[in-house]
Order: sequence, then C-alpha cells, then structure tokens
Amino acid sequence: MTQPINLERPDLDITDPDVYVQGVPHATFKRLRDTDPVSWWDETDGAGFWAVTRYNDILEVSRNPQVFSSKKGIRIEDMKPDELEARKTVMEMDPPEHTAYRRMVQPPFSAREVASYEMGIRLLARGVIDEIGGQTEFDFVELLARQLPMRMLGKMLGTPDQDGPMLVKKGDALLGNDDPEFTETPVSLVNTDEYRLLPFRSPISLELFAYAQEQARIRRDNPTDDVISRLLQPKRDGEPLSEMEFKNFFTLLIAAGTDTTRYTMTAGIMALLEHPEQLAELRENPNHLDDAVEEILRWGTVTMHFRRTALQDARLENRNIKAGDKVLIWYIAGDYDERQFQNPYTFNIKRNPNEHLAFGLKSPHKCLGEHLARIEVKILLEELLPKLSSMALNGTPERLRSNFISGIKHLPLKVSWA
Ligand code: HEM
Repeated sequence: MTQPINLERPDLDITDPDVYVQGVPHATFKRLRDTDPVSWWDETDGAGFWAVTRYNDILEVSRNPQVFSSKKGIRIEDMKPDELEARKTVMEMDPPEHTAYRRMVQPPFSAREVASYEMGIRLLARGVIDEIGGQTEFDFVELLARQLPMRMLGKMLGTPDQDGPMLVKKGDALLGNDDPEFTETPVSLVNTDEYRLLPFRSPISLELFAYAQEQARIRRDNPTDDVISRLLQPKRDGEPLSEMEFKNFFTLLIAAGTDTTRYTMTAGIMALLEHPEQLAELRENPNHLDDAVEEILRWGTVTMHFRRTALQDARLENRNIKAGDKVLIWYIAGDYDERQFQNPYTFNIKRNPNEHLAFGLKSPHKCLGEHLARIEVKILLEELLPKLSSMALNGTPERLRSNFISGIKHLPLKVSWA
C-alpha cells in the first residue's frame, strides 16, 4: 500500500501555499477529520474560517446553498462588495439566479454534446503525442498535460488552433496566480490592490477580456455552430449572455477548464508510475479505464477546497456557525475520508463505487465541465499508453505553490516508444 506524501505531519498550516509545494498535508487533514472535523482557523489577513473536512459534512454544506452561499466568494480571500460585483461569475451565484444562468450555459457541456466532440479530441490528442517527435526524455506536463486541455477546449469553443499556446499561458497566470513561475504578480507575495476588480486579481484577465470580445465580434458577424456562437445566440426562453457576462464566462472557462484537467492528467500519470502493477493491468484490460479515470480524479482532487459563507446561524458537528462566517469545504480531505472510502490512501483503478468530490457533489455548482474533463483524461490514457512500452520518472516532480490547486507542475519522464 503506497501512501501519498506528507502523511507524517499532523500539524501543518492548511492555508500556507508553501506547505503544498511539499505535498498535500494529508496527515493534518486526517487529524482534523478524526478530532476536529469542523475546525476554526484564524487568518492574519482575514476574518478566519471554518474548515469542513468530513465527506458527509461537505455534502451537507454543498446541498444547502440557502444557508451556505457562494455569492460572497468561493475563494478564501475576503472580497469587498465592488470586487465581488466586478468579478462575479456563475460560481459566485446562488439559486434562483444561478439556476437561470446555468440553464443558459449548460447545453454545450452536456454528456451527449461532449461525446460528439470525441473524435475531434482524439485526433487532437494523437497530434499532440506526435509532436513529441519520439523524444525519450521530456516533461509530461510541458509537452502533453499542459497542451491537451486548452487545445481540446479550444476545439469546442472554436478558437483558432494557433491561439492555443497563448491561451495556455494566460490560463496559467490566472489559476497559478500565487506561483512566481506563472505570474509576475503572485497574490500572497506582492501587492495586487490595483487589480482587485479583475478575475483572480490578475492583470492578465484584461488581455483575456479583449481576446473574448474579439472572438465574440467575429461570431456576431458570422455565427458558426461552435460553443462561443451558441453562447451568444438569443435563447428561446430568454436573453443571450451580455457582453460582460460573456467575457467573464470565457475567462472562467479558460481558468477552470484547462489547468484543472492538466493537473488531473498529471496526477494520473504520477499515480500509475507509483503503481506499476496497476499500469500493467490497465494496459492489458482497457475495460478498467472508466473506473481508473474516477480514481485518478479522486486521488488528485485538484481543486482542494471551495468556500461558502453562512447566511444564517447553523450547526455542523456540534459547532455553532454564525451568520457571516466563512466555511471552507475541503474536497481533498473528504475524498480521503475513511468513513466514505475503504483504504482511501490506496490507489485502486478498480474502485467502484467511487462517489468522489473532485467535481463537487450534490451541489448546484457541480462542475460544468465534468464530462469534458473525464473524456479528455480517458482519451489521453487510451492514446498514450499503447504507444509507450515503458515509462519511468526521470527526476523530481515539482509541485505548484497553491493552497487551492493541488498540482504537479513538472513531471520529468523517460519513456520508450512501442
Ligand atoms: C478534472 C478537471 C476539473 C476539475 C477537478 C474541476 C473541478 C470543479 C469543481 C470542484 C467545481 C465546483 C465548484 C464549487 O463547489 O463551488 C467546478 C465548477 C465548475 N467547473 Fe470544473 N473542474 C474540472 C474541469 C472543468 C472543465 C473542463 C470546465 C469547462 C470546460 C470546467 C468548468 C467549470 C465551471 C464553469 C464551474 C462552475 C459551475 C457552477 O458554478 O455552476 N471545469 N469544477
């Protein structure tokens, strides 16, 4: 039985982005689940928050948006009302506003619609694998995981293929907004006050806004059947997205839909490297692929937490939560909860059932891109594994500096091509 790193220290600061550079603080989450499942954390630059770490409590919070609201923000940082308003996306809405918005943007991301892109995604994956050009030593993230999701999403959105690398870079700067490798303005290291009204407090958002506006203009003149055109078309039951809504949604898609899938793919390859017997089994029996993808999603749980804010007094695990308190639901802790998963620290490609929290669960905010993310991870494995006769680690993996996204940002591999 292998265990993820950092099972030794039960006393780490779960808010410290530097902690995650070493690995997810699993021992700390285990202690919290066992002894203080709804624990209070003071903050030096905020009001403090409750950390919810048990699977069932996370579901309880998720399914009650009328008590645990998203509209005051979904990240730890406290936002002023003008920041919240300017940066608002579907993620920061509650029902019924959320329900109406989601109805507008959901159709192109349904399981059926996404399945219709399968061949396009597969061809793209083959192309990206071909671009490696038979190299035997490379960074899996740089050449594969970083390329595929943005280019796959670009296929759906209808953005030009050649814009892929530029969009990848800008998406990195948003979601990696606290890692100096990806941004010149890491939020916990430099003063980002002048960008406080922009998504992710990042100046890069302005560039994405301008890009989105231009893409919208092109489609307004010449509508096609791509997702951008569909989002801009008037709906039978209501208005299309406004210019502002579209720009924000486009930026959200670039941020939410690319790095998350990249880090999931990378977590998957890393897990398979650490479990060669399961890698061999997966090669032999591709019928396990669907279950393997779910286990990779659970194992990685790339978006580690989301925030809610109590709109009224509430009680959870004998704790009195006051109206206005911040409540962080730690999906990463819930996905390793022994009360829900047998042997959670064992990676098991045949785990079934596997009702993980990687996309959120029982929540109106359950990931909009879940079907796309699943198919991308699956196609990558289907296309890549048969082409390699061996695959091994070729150096030390490097992790992202973030308390929000759990991710390996460099994974050096040595491979032999079949
Ligand atoms: C493996 C990859 C992914 C992971 C782990 C992931 C994770 C999540 C999670 C946990 C949420 C719920 C947020 C909450 O509880 O407040 C979410 C929401 C969302 N995701 Fe994903 N996501 C992934 C891929 C994608 C992709 C590919 C897209 C788009 C193409 C996407 C777009 C969104 C959007 C728009 C929301 C907001 C939904 C709402 O608020 O109603 N995600 N995602």
